[in-house]
Amino acid sequence: KRIVILLSGRGSNMIAVAERCAAEGWPAEVVAVISNKPGAGGLVWAQARGIATAVVAHRDHPSRDAFDAALAAEIDRHQPDLVVLAGFMRILGEAFVQRYAGRLLNIHPSLLPSFGGLHTHERALEAGCKVAGATVHFVTPALDHGPIVLQAVVPVHQGDDAERLAARVLRAEHVIYPRAVRWFVQDRLLLEHEQVRQLDGEP
Ligand code: GRF
Repeated sequence: KRIVILLSGRGSNMIAVAERCAAEGWPAEVVAVISNKPGAGGLVWAQARGIATAVVAHRDHPSRDAFDAALAAEIDRHQPDLVVLAGFMRILGEAFVQRYAGRLLNIHPSLLPSFGGLHTHERALEAGCKVAGATVHFVTPALDHGPIVLQAVVPVHQGDDAERLAARVLRAEHVIYPRAVRWFVQDRLLLEHEQVRQLDGEP
């Protein structure tokens, strides 16, 4: 399976997925990493490993539709079976999302459906949550609302600030995102009635 990863920043989730993919011999390859930000740290890591990289900068495009179309054109050059959003900080329009329906995954740093959107850790702390976590989900046009593939729960400790909590959640992200992507490339995810079934129950 051909995987294209989209990111905007340091790319620690991209690294987690790409390293597991190579180390565990998945029937898959990360064929390209695409950023909307020219300076994204994740691009450097990918380049150093010989993975094709590209930048599609939203500032170079007059509208969201134009940006989405340019991004889709770049993605499609790589003929992906799966598009993985890994800290990709642009909202994608409906046409884009429909184009990749059923093969577009995202990770969000909260236990969805709680705390979609930004500042998840601050909001979880403000709400007095005793647990937090991360969610891997298929992307649908409704932001942060697609069918859930996998979630991880971490404790909120007394005295946590957003940064400490974010670091704890991020470690959990690095566990569940590679696992969810592996299930996908192993054809073990079934989308049914807008929910995800994992086919054989194995880890
Ligand atoms: C992660 O917390 C992810 O859940 C969120 O953005 C962050 C990206 O981090 N969407 P990284 O670039 O993968 O290190």
